[in-house]
Amino acid sequence: MTPTNPSVSLREITRDTVRPICRIEVAPEQRRFVASIAASIAEAHFSPEAWFRAIYAGDEPVGFVMLSIVPEKTEYYVWRYLIGIEHQGRGYGRAAMLLVIEHVRSLGAAELLLGYVPGEGEPRAFYEKLGFAATGAVEDGEIVMALRL
Ligand SMILES: CC(C)(COP(=O)(O)OP(=O)(O)OC[C@H]1O[C@@H](n2cnc3c(N)ncnc32)[C@H](O)[C@@H]1OP(=O)(O)O)[C@@H](O)C(=O)NCCC(=O)NCCS
Repeated sequence: MTPTNPSVSLREITRDTVRPICRIEVAPEQRRFVASIAASIAEAHFSPEAWFRAIYAGDEPVGFVMLSIVPEKTEYYVWRYLIGIEHQGRGYGRAAMLLVIEHVRSLGAAELLLGYVPGEGEPRAFYEKLGFAATGAVEDGEIVMALRL
């Protein structure tokens, strides 16, 4: 696997793409780690701090990212992150997270935070390989990790 995959991009979701994007799903046993894309887009509609994009590999939508961005703060939060089950394990998750990191860094973020639900299949090692480290905090049962930028 290469650290950067040139075919991976973050794209705005449009009227034409929202349906196929909402069909992207994680494995049934992974559902406890992340909400569905449809639920996240619905929530984003009522959350001014939400910033979301579809993750593409070439011209195919393969995943979804939603951040919480509060302009007065320099802390940014990965709210939702997923790669569809049939696209996992090909480096797309890593490549897209590198783009997310680049994006928040360009906005002046000092730290990128996230929380994950602990348990079998948890994404801890995925985030550690990207440089995130546990802060020691637990919020609403989620283990908080941070990346200094
Ligand atoms: C976690 C997730 C986004 C990873 O996406 P992906 O495209 O499969 O990951 P990549 O192929 O880019 O993997 C990058 C590295 O992380 C590792 N990795 C990926 N998922 C992992 C997991 N769940 N546990 C441990 N390691 C993992 C890979 O083995 C790879 O390691 P390598 O570079 O040493 O080969 C994806 O599995 C997913 O959507 N999971 C379900 C939802 C979820 O847990 N989201 C996070 C909510 S906080």
